[in-house]
Amino acid sequence: MNKLIIANWKCNPPTIEEAKELFEKIKDNALEKNVVICPPSIFLSSLICEGIKFGVQNCFWKEKGAFTGEISPQMIKSLGVNYVIIGHSERRNILKETNEEIIQKINEAVRAGLTPIVCIGESKGEDTFEVLNNQIKDIDENIILAYEPLWAIGTGESAPIEKVKEVKSFLKDRKVLYGGSVNSQNAPNYLEITDGLLVGGASLNSEEFSKIILCDI
Ligand code: PGA
Repeated sequence: MNKLIIANWKCNPPTIEEAKELFEKIKDNALEKNVVICPPSIFLSSLICEGIKFGVQNCFWKEKGAFTGEISPQMIKSLGVNYVIIGHSERRNILKETNEEIIQKINEAVRAGLTPIVCIGESKGEDTFEVLNNQIKDIDENIILAYEPLWAIGTGESAPIEKVKEVKSFLKDRKVLYGGSVNSQNAPNYLEITDGLLVGGASLNSEEFSKIILCDI
């Protein structure tokens, strides 16, 4: 198997020294597998090295211009970075990103030659398939999706395997990763039924993340 494993460091760690330290510890294992490291983008230039795939956790939907604080897909691509996480639930909820903005970001990312990983998933109590339908309706079938139910993110309550299976078959031929409280214990189960993993908290622990990488046999 050569499943895709994405490390989403989110807004961590707080210093470049710690980021370098973490990266050094996972680098060798990441080289062996289909792993994409997504550190905070301000650290990218200091970490980028031969053979390792990198991604960012967000991008803007314009190439350039008067958009203070934003980073364009073309800038990301020009660093040699090829992946971008788009529409993470933390961005949808905390930063109020809409489905429309997410589509614009996907389009611009694809135009720049990046591979987007688009996060989808329901909140507790919501109808999963209704939410997913709405989130994916304008997304091309070739785009990689990450199913991350909100109630499973950072809670330790990972989604039941049966639920993820249902979502995978609902999404038919699309490439689907699973994310939400992935750890070295549950990773093999999700890898068996999906195309890979989006790992948050556990990707900040070098031992735990290395075990996750290496369980993809
Ligand atoms: P988690 O985060 O692994 O810490 O639950 C996953 C994510 O938010 O992508």
